[in-house]
Amino acid sequence: MSDFTRDVSDNVKALGEDPSLWPQSLQWMHDVGRHHYTYNFHWLGRPIIQYPQDIVAFQEVVHRVKPDLILETGIAHGGSLVLSASLLSLLDIMEGLDPRQSKRKVIGVDIDIRPHNRQALDDHPLRYKMELIEGSSIDPEVVNDVHARCQGFEKVLVSLDSNHTKHHVAEELKAYAGLVSVDSYCIVFDTVVEYMHSEFVQNREWGPGNSPLTAVQDFLATNPHFEVDHSFDGKLLITVARGGYLKRIS
Ligand SMILES: C[S@@+](CC[C@H](N)C(=O)[O-])C[C@H]1O[C@@H](n2cnc3c(N)ncnc32)[C@H](O)[C@@H]1O
Repeated sequence: MSDFTRDVSDNVKALGEDPSLWPQSLQWMHDVGRHHYTYNFHWLGRPIIQYPQDIVAFQEVVHRVKPDLILETGIAHGGSLVLSASLLSLLDIMEGLDPRQSKRKVIGVDIDIRPHNRQALDDHPLRYKMELIEGSSIDPEVVNDVHARCQGFEKVLVSLDSNHTKHHVAEELKAYAGLVSVDSYCIVFDTVVEYMHSEFVQNREWGPGNSPLTAVQDFLATNPHFEVDHSFDGKLLITVARGGYLKRIS
């Protein structure tokens, strides 16, 4: 480890252990959430409903894992799908491969792919890297379809960002965590719901006690193959996926 890498690692650990920073970060997320901050961003032309911090962390995970397949639940406007497609294309280029010829791809699943979003993705220059499935991510037919499309891929990264109830995320973890390759990640977004004030979860099916984090906690209690990579919590602080960067360790 270089001096710089060791310093950064120590800084990240200290950030994660500083008792004042998470409450401040959470307060900031509440304050900007009132102005729908997560809707402010685009990735290569498509709206992406993420914090910039999580987008950068996603890039770090992709570079570290070098997946040949990314599976995402929750497409919305397609920004996260385009993000994955662009990062996979860059991995190809960094390895001297032609992105159009390599087998790397992203599969996106959404229960409702609106026509204008589908059209925008169909028109996107990176469309050749994407496969879209319309249906519920926990519908057995969709799960079977995803598994069939994942055949023959070795390094698989999974991102869960669809319905944020405990039941739904638990079912997604049951359906898709097994696809994640060792040393890769299953990123469970919106674990932050567990910490949100009631005004942010009004008219939502999910909320504290019924959140992605509660599904993750149950999942980890019975699944020794995964652990939380807490370095992302300290590194980011501002993240919707606190405790949701799950690394497959065996
Ligand atoms: C938070 S948005 C996804 C944001 C997207 N990943 C991004 O970064 O821009 C959640 C999406 O999940 C979808 N969704 C809701 N319930 C679902 C289900 N049962 N199966 C699959 N997708 C679902 C919604 O239609 C919505 O488009």
